[in-house]
Amino acid sequence: MSNSKKIAVLAGDGIGPEVMAEALKVLEVLERQTGLTVQKTAADVGGIAIDNHGKALPESTIKTCEAADAILFGSVGGPKWEKLPPAEQPERGALLPLRKHFNLYANLRPAIVFKGLAGASPLKSEIIGEQLDVLVVRELTGGLYFGKKERQADWASDNMVYTRAEIERIAHIAFQAARQRGKKLCSIDKANVLTTMVFWREVVTEVGKQYPDVALSHMYVDNAAMQLVRNPRQFDVILAENMFGDILSDEASMIAGSLGMLPSASLAGAPGKEGAFGLFEPSGGSAPDIAGQGIANPIAQILSLGMLFQYAFGLPEVSKRVHDAVQSVLDQGNRTRDIHTAGTTLVNTKQMGDLIVKALA
Ligand code: IPM
Ligand code: MN
Repeated sequence: MSNSKKIAVLAGDGIGPEVMAEALKVLEVLERQTGLTVQKTAADVGGIAIDNHGKALPESTIKTCEAADAILFGSVGGPKWEKLPPAEQPERGALLPLRKHFNLYANLRPAIVFKGLAGASPLKSEIIGEQLDVLVVRELTGGLYFGKKERQADWASDNMVYTRAEIERIAHIAFQAARQRGKKLCSIDKANVLTTMVFWREVVTEVGKQYPDVALSHMYVDNAAMQLVRNPRQFDVILAENMFGDILSDEASMIAGSLGMLPSASLAGAPGKEGAFGLFEPSGGSAPDIAGQGIANPIAQILSLGMLFQYAFGLPEVSKRVHDAVQSVLDQGNRTRDIHTAGTTLVNTKQMGDLIVKALA
């Protein structure tokens, strides 16, 4: 592996810049420890890009990302831009074109409850158990989001299309992920109603023949939404098309407790030894209500950096080290406000970042 890499740093809006600052401190430590030199180029995205360049995803930002091996993304959006037409708002205006432009079809959203944080889940602790670890693999560049859209005075439509190739490639990602985890894959569909979903089930089943070591099951999306709160521990890897994955990943992350704890990866290919291009971002949003106060939880951003090392640089052991450092800081009783409970130590964004840096070093 070449020991010099480039990343585009897109901090965005709200708490984005605050939590990104902590991730960049962690990055410095990881560079020293791995011997990698990571060249970081910052660029505007989201609301700040609307203010500075007139659109949520300016050409200059796309260029910066094109020149990079990976994108480290913060979060976008805020009340200031809520009155814009939906397609121009920071979230849609930046995220959807980024996904399409870079072909980021594989979205990995882990829903993990760290040891000691079962109390942060709204579900009873006997349902969560000691630890919960579910991975949602969401197809990110097809389906209803990107199908033909029409709007007339008295009707409107969105079109759901999936090609065999689109289903195959995301299914491979999900099976490969399952192979490295609990070897269970549950594919979500609505094959009792939708033709695209009958096809989805057929193609996933076909791909599954190449992974005899992974137990494949199928579940209708409505049942899956129910099973996730009834018994989330039955799941290992969940595979879903774009819209269903959007909904189920929000549900799964809430089950895990704080959104401020969860990272995500959006990849343009299967992560081989040398990694794949991808965008790495916290699952949560820009949290305008607490922005600027220095109290946001930086853990999701820091874990997203860990995922970047794993999937874009092909260094899964670094991701594991970051994860373990976070667990040890939590084990010592440190909590940001969102996960704070009686008897634990309340820390702010910067303190949490410093503690994780220390735990790594
Ligand atoms: C997400 C978000 C986006 C989506 C929106 C903001 C376009 O909800 O990343 O899950 O629906 O994909
Ligand atoms: Mn969503």
